[in-house]
Amino acid sequence: MAIQQTLSIIKPDGVEKNVIGKVVGRFEEEGLVPVAMRMVHLSQQEAEGFYAVHRERPFFGELVEFMTRGPVVVMVLEGEDAVARNREVMGATNPAEAAEGTLRALYASGIEENTVHGSDSEENAAKEIKYFFSDVQVFSRS
Ligand code: CMP
Repeated sequence: MAIQQTLSIIKPDGVEKNVIGKVVGRFEEEGLVPVAMRMVHLSQQEAEGFYAVHRERPFFGELVEFMTRGPVVVMVLEGEDAVARNREVMGATNPAEAAEGTLRALYASGIEENTVHGSDSEENAAKEIKYFFSDVQVFSRS
């Protein structure tokens, strides 16, 4: 296994529920350490650009509306096998299917308001990190 970086977002529902600290704490406990972090209220254009791969999906409009409802926390997490590890810690997209103890089982209220986003591949992680952070804003702690 190699050290990787992945993009994580605490979505508007997670910020509203005041679980930023719990989510970040859980990542740290799991060996996924933040190496870049900021809070941002996404514009419609920024949310549409981030989720461009889903543009043709029937839920795209709702997803953009939700993601622009309030501020989000965008972070880069670093650790062993970080892309897959982050997805394990988050749990399934639909919280009804998320394993017990995962972030989505604990905090998500539905398939859309699912509290956290995580990159689904190393290739997408690199693209998503670049979408929010320049090279000098990302540190390395490994
Ligand atoms: P995320 O991992 O951020 O990637 C795309 C997002 O689209 C996903 O989390 C969900 O929030 C949302 N999503 C996926 N499937 C559906 C669906 N069937 N209905 C509404 N939203 C969805």
